[in-house]
Amino acid sequence: METKIFDQSQLNEATAILAEGGLVAFPTETVYGLGASALLPNAVAQVYQVKGRPSDNPLIVHIAEPEQLEPFVDNKHPFADKLMETFWPGPLTLIFSIKKDSLPSIVTGGLSTAAFRMPNNTKTLALIKQAQQPLVGPSANTSGKPSPTSAAHVQHDLAGKIAGILDDGVTQIGVESTVLDLSDPKAPPIILRPGAISKEQLEAVLQTKVLVDQHLVTESEAPKAPGMKYKHYAPNTNVMMVNDQDWSAAMAWAKEQQLKVGVLAGPTIADQVRFEAAAIYLFFDDSVEAATKGLFAGLRALDESIAELDVLFAPTFPESGLGAAYMNRLKKAANQSFFQEN
Ligand code: TXA
Ligand code: MG
Repeated sequence: METKIFDQSQLNEATAILAEGGLVAFPTETVYGLGASALLPNAVAQVYQVKGRPSDNPLIVHIAEPEQLEPFVDNKHPFADKLMETFWPGPLTLIFSIKKDSLPSIVTGGLSTAAFRMPNNTKTLALIKQAQQPLVGPSANTSGKPSPTSAAHVQHDLAGKIAGILDDGVTQIGVESTVLDLSDPKAPPIILRPGAISKEQLEAVLQTKVLVDQHLVTESEAPKAPGMKYKHYAPNTNVMMVNDQDWSAAMAWAKEQQLKVGVLAGPTIADQVRFEAAAIYLFFDDSVEAATKGLFAGLRALDESIAELDVLFAPTFPESGLGAAYMNRLKKAANQSFFQEN
C-alpha cells in the first residue's frame, strides 16, 4: 500500500478512506495520531495491528465538539463541563464511564470507561467533523518507539501500512496529552498520565486537590492507565539522564569509557559539551517547553545518527508543571537511569 501525504485541500479524500475503514494519521498539538473510525471495529483492529500494540491497551476517542460525547456518556463527573470549557480543544484527555455497548469493545479494551479528547488542530478538527464520526487516535508510531512529532516520523514507522497522513508540520507540544480519570463522579480527579495540562493548572481551575496515580511512579504494579505499564518511548540507543551540575563529569566518564555520546540539550549545555559530544540535537532554547517539544524528535534523530552513538545524554528538569510530563517520558526512554558520579 502506498501511504499518501494529504494537505488540507485533500480532506475529502482522507475522509472517504476513513469512512471505508482505512487508516489516516492526523496531526494534533501533542503528537501525530493514527486515525480510524471509532465505530468500525475492523478499522480499529487494524490500528492495533499496524502499531503492534497489545490489545488490552485502550484507545483515545477524538471528537471535534463536546456534543459528540452524548451517544457515549451520560453520567458525567461534576468537574467535566468546567474542564472541557477551559481546556478543550487542548491536550487534556478525560476518562468517563460510558453507556453500555455504546463503543466497540476493541476501542475500550473491554472496560466500562473510555478516554475522550478534542485536539487543538484545525485540520484534524475539520477532518473529524467531515468524517461525521469520532476517530480513535493512538500515537502514530510503532508501539514502544518515541511518539511521532512530524509526518516524517509517521512515514518512518508506518509507511506502506496505512493509507495516508494528513501533514501539518511539527507538533507544538511534543508529548502526549494529560490523561485525567473522571470515571467515578464521586471521586476526585486522578491524573493517569502527565501532559501539558499540569496538575497545578487543573487544581487552579477546579479549586480542589487533583490526585496523581501512584502507578506513574512505581512501575511494578498493574497501572490504572493500561498504557503506562509498557516500556515506552525507547530508542535503540541507551539513554541516560544528566542533572545540570553533572554534565562535565558525565562527558569525562564517557570519554574514559570510549563511548560515543549523543547529547540532547538547549544552547547553554550544548555549548558546554560541544568538543566532546559526537552529535548534538539542539533544543531551540534552554526552557522545559523547548526540551519537551524536541525530546521525541531528538531521540529519533540521534538514534539514527550516522555517528553510530553508544549512549544518549538528556537534561533533567524539575518535576512540576510541564516538567512532570517531560520527566515522565524521559525516565521511560532512559529506563530510569541517571548519570551518577562514583
Ligand atoms: O496526545 C495524545 O493523547 C495522543 C494524540 C494522538 O491525541 N494520543 C495518545 O494515545 O497518546 P495513546 O493511545 O498512545 O495513549 C492513550 C492512553 C494510554 O496510556 C491508555 O492506556 C490510556 O490512554 N487509556 C485509554 N483509555 C483508557 C481508559 N478507559 N482508562 C484508563 N486509561 C485509558
Ligand atoms: Mg502512545
